[in-house]
Amino acid sequence: MASNRENFGSRTTAVLAMAGSAIGLGNIWRFPYMVGQNGGAAFIIVYLLCAVMLCIPIFIAESIIGKRTQQSTFSAMDKLAPGTSWKWIGLLTVFTPLIILSYYSVVGGWSIEYLIKSLTFSFTDPAVSRDAHSAIFGSFITSTWKPLILHTLFMAINAVVVIAGVRKGIEKFTKITTPVLFLLVVLIMIYSLTLPGAGAGIEYMVKPDFSKLTGAAMLSAMGQSFFSLSLGVGCILTYASYLKKNENLMATGLYTSVFDVLFAIIAGFAIMPAVFAAGIEPGAGPGLIFETLPFIFSTMGASAPMISNIVAIIFFVTILFAALTSSVSMLETGVAWLVDEKKMSRAKATMILFGGCWALGVLCSLSYGPLADFHIFGATIFDLCDHMTSDFLMTFGSLLFVLFVGWKMKKADVKDEFTNGGSLKGNTRIFNVVYFFIRFIAPVVIVVIFATNLLEKLHLL
Ligand code: PFF
Repeated sequence: MASNRENFGSRTTAVLAMAGSAIGLGNIWRFPYMVGQNGGAAFIIVYLLCAVMLCIPIFIAESIIGKRTQQSTFSAMDKLAPGTSWKWIGLLTVFTPLIILSYYSVVGGWSIEYLIKSLTFSFTDPAVSRDAHSAIFGSFITSTWKPLILHTLFMAINAVVVIAGVRKGIEKFTKITTPVLFLLVVLIMIYSLTLPGAGAGIEYMVKPDFSKLTGAAMLSAMGQSFFSLSLGVGCILTYASYLKKNENLMATGLYTSVFDVLFAIIAGFAIMPAVFAAGIEPGAGPGLIFETLPFIFSTMGASAPMISNIVAIIFFVTILFAALTSSVSMLETGVAWLVDEKKMSRAKATMILFGGCWALGVLCSLSYGPLADFHIFGATIFDLCDHMTSDFLMTFGSLLFVLFVGWKMKKADVKDEFTNGGSLKGNTRIFNVVYFFIRFIAPVVIVVIFATNLLEKLHLL
């Protein structure tokens, strides 16, 4: 069965698909905002350290499991550790991306709405205040039907791509969209950096303030780096199961991580200078994209309405593409599980998961409107899905993957997969270092950061 499995056509397309999964809403709104909140360049340094010390080893660990077995999460763990409980981790990591997909799709729907707004030249009136933009956004997300229809549309695009398959769907889609994403974000950055008053935004990104590097800030940096690289949820494992057997895992891991980090930093330099040029304090999350930036586009429009509206179109296309290339990988992780494990057809598996994620997404969407007062553990359904996955499940999943490869799998097997049976000389030379990071550094750092944050929360530090 494994031999009939589809695969990515080349290293380039595989890296573009993986980078497409990695580059998403996390890079565009979470990263720039977190940089400012957590000590500017100091946060970027910790983020980069996490990328090198944790993300690359976790990425490689997940890839080793996927490429070795050519199976998706559940069956892969079962194949490598038959008769043990490890396969349940596989199942856990199938559900995490599906939960993420449910709320991610709601935000994807919002980005469709704002793309339509920019295409109909809604951001050209400088008289509309920042508060008025917030009110427009507020009344949109709290309404019942429109966000639901757009959430459905966003999910449907995902389903179409995933049903088409790995080669004809995912590969074809990300081969075009990922390079376009880079081009667009660089264009926005150039525009943004040339605005008068952009300097304060640059300072925001590069000035280190180490006093803000608390345990919580480090946990944020770690969580953000895992979220950004789609780690701990089986996405990378599943995509790696579509790699050719002779692929070099060090190379795919390195390229994907570099593209992802680069994109986040470019996005920061694309957004923050514009925010400061408009004299605004950067806000958090969705507010930044859907309230502050439309206001900036409109005010810039005072002198050149067309240009700023074109920038708005480019910006919302970028957001939509970035969200789609990530969400497709979330859906694929679940679909691959049903296809591999339950021997279901791709179309049927996609439709079943489409239904489940759509339904949970409906609840997430309504949690801004009619269900706003419905709280579980003090959070709305949307926030619960977000925090449960990005604060906890992704980190937990990442920890379990490195423990599995570092402690459960045989060292000889790990080496065999990483070096392609010894044929990759470079990988053979660095194997012991990578293995040491997977076995010791990654698990210890994850646990220490987690514990520091916990102790801080309990006021014991
Ligand atoms: N990496 C994506 C982003 O930065 O937006 C988010 C993501 C994709 C999370 C895939 C989880 C996942 F399985």
